Amino acid sequence: PPGAQEFIPADAHSLGELKAAAPACRGCELYEDATQVVFGRGAEHARLVLVGEQPGDIEDQQGLPFVGPAGRLLRDAVGDAGIDPSVIYLTNTVKHFRFELRGKRRIHQTPGPAHITACRPWLVAEFSLLKPDLVVALGATAAKALFGPSFRVTRSRGELLPWPASAQRPQDFPVAESRALATIHPSAVLRADDRDAAYRGLVDDLKVAAEVLA
Ligand code: URA
Ligand code: SF4
Repeated sequence: PPGAQEFIPADAHSLGELKAAAPACRGCELYEDATQVVFGRGAEHARLVLVGEQPGDIEDQQGLPFVGPAGRLLRDAVGDAGIDPSVIYLTNTVKHFRFELRGKRRIHQTPGPAHITACRPWLVAEFSLLKPDLVVALGATAAKALFGPSFRVTRSRGELLPWPASAQRPQDFPVAESRALATIHPSAVLRADDRDAAYRGLVDDLKVAAEVLA
């Protein structure tokens, strides 16, 4: 795929301008079957960016990230970690819903490496306007987008990492002070056999983020 870069206004000065340009993106084929693009949302001066995988079925219909069950769980975990929700910006690695149609049901499909690469310029553009103190990758897709394809969430979750080079343009903000962190995806908590333990693990990782923000 050609990638999102050519659809991103180079002179965008606000997230609103970026968001307004996103519906015209043809950076990969995912726009064809999705209902609409689902752009990030949250504080214009967010200190913490939470990056998910891609919109789910409900997000695709409503046009907003993290409004379904995973989003509810994420909001609970953020609260239990002691993070002020007003400092957060929520977004996704890939901004259109990828699914497979089975009968009338739309079954979630994990975005592939080509979708991650194609859509990453939007994420980089969001970072360059937000200049956050910290980014948290939720799950493997976001972690691979930020830290590279060989990154393993199971091995490195909860570790405070330097700001990833792949998340910055050369002309962007000095990010020496900015940090990054990976944890599991809230959907993985919903699917876990031991849901309470998985939830506690997510909250523990988010407490590392809370300390950075403190
Ligand atoms: N899962 C995600 O990764 N993102 C959303 O927006 C919703 C569910
Ligand atoms: Fe563009 Fe990303 Fe949608 Fe692909 S998934 S069309 S790159 S916004």
